[in-house]
Amino acid sequence: MDSAPLQDSSDPPARSGPDGVQEEFAPLSLGSLKVWPPVLLAPMAGVTNPPFRALCRAAGAPLCVTEMVTARGYLMGNRRTREMTRPAPGERPHSIQVYGTDPRDLRKLAGILADEGVDHLDLNLGCPVPKITRQGGGSAICVRPRLVGRLVAALVEGVEEAGRQVPVTVKMRKGIDDDCLTYLDAARAAQEAGAAAVGLHGRTAAQLYSGLADWGAIAHLKQELSIPVLGNGDVWQGVDALRMMRRTGCDGVIVGRGCLGRPWIFRELAALFDGRPAPAEPNLGQVLEVLFDHGQRLIDHLGPATGLRQMRKWITWYTKGFPGCAALRGQLFGREAPPVSAGLDGLRELLGGLDPTAPYPPAALRVKRGKGSRTQRVRLPAGYLADRTSDRAHKECAAPRSDAELEAWEQNLSGG
Ligand SMILES: Cc1cc2nc3c(=O)[nH]c(=O)nc-3n(C[C@H](O)[C@H](O)[C@H](O)COP(=O)(O)O)c2cc1C
Repeated sequence: MDSAPLQDSSDPPARSGPDGVQEEFAPLSLGSLKVWPPVLLAPMAGVTNPPFRALCRAAGAPLCVTEMVTARGYLMGNRRTREMTRPAPGERPHSIQVYGTDPRDLRKLAGILADEGVDHLDLNLGCPVPKITRQGGGSAICVRPRLVGRLVAALVEGVEEAGRQVPVTVKMRKGIDDDCLTYLDAARAAQEAGAAAVGLHGRTAAQLYSGLADWGAIAHLKQELSIPVLGNGDVWQGVDALRMMRRTGCDGVIVGRGCLGRPWIFRELAALFDGRPAPAEPNLGQVLEVLFDHGQRLIDHLGPATGLRQMRKWITWYTKGFPGCAALRGQLFGREAPPVSAGLDGLRELLGGLDPTAPYPPAALRVKRGKGSRTQRVRLPAGYLADRTSDRAHKECAAPRSDAELEAWEQNLSGG
């Protein structure tokens, strides 16, 4: 198990003044949108769908970003892509992450989403997947700051044309690898083009999700920009968010893997930022209540077959480290897996033998969930680094000819 070195749960909650009101941190300002506590649920493909966003909101997450939506998929009229832009019932503010390398598409998309009522748009500039970076997309876009500027400007123009004030933010990585750091120039370009904030995942594309996020880079970026900086990487417990803000001076925190199977981290964050102590971790019985609630929401949203299939990965995340749970994995994924026809009751039966009074295992608090710990050599187009001043995307990927081709391409784009 990899754990961040910054763990020190002795960090106090936010400091309060003599009247008992927290005075250490300010709400995060994204344009006219005020976010308190200054925390975002990170966009995560296959994760931040309406059911999970609703759970996180109920726990206190003030701004939950959707899974990434491609401009191409949306403008092609792909049903699944369009579905992803829908808010969960009653969800405000509604925040959507978008991706595209053609400014005309992004401008059009931003206009449509603004007309439909979106409250925040985030541009994904951090995808590390080889098939995408090899075409100059994803995290390779940041090698060309002028291109970053054009993409951000296109989104800003799109929402302005719709007559709305919708803040546009970007989310990027440190760079391609340690020899090619791109974040400072790319973030400055985003700022000049009208971005309301820059989110920085403190890893390079070569690092993928491995090792420790570089909070020093977040601190450095904060010194360079006048717009808010959102720090991202290795917030596993509420206290990490306070530490990140205290150490780096950043204005807000983006929570990724730390909430997988632990949506109540947002309750902890709300308490700590309000100057109160963190609530106790739930015992297994309480975890299972959240798990079944999540399962029901997934079934309602995706239907029983897809909902229950998606639920399997969540069960492994929710139950991580509890006694007797590792053995469940074989039953969940093997031949004896409960049939879809058994619905949620099949899962209740499977999990029914566990001890509900089991306390939350401390070792599970900081277990990395959701992505492996490998690294990679990043692929870029031949000669790409020689032309960093271009404001054009290297090459548009061939336009998908069908929904199936589009969905395969979108699958590759996940991550950031
Ligand atoms: C399953 C999964 C899917 C992700 N999908 C996206 C995505 O679509 N867009 C994006 O910008 N980042 C994506 N990310 C990256 C996270 O938003 C975040 O930047 C990263 O996990 C680092 O934060 P953490 O250390 O708190 O997990 C994904 C991460 C995970 C684990």
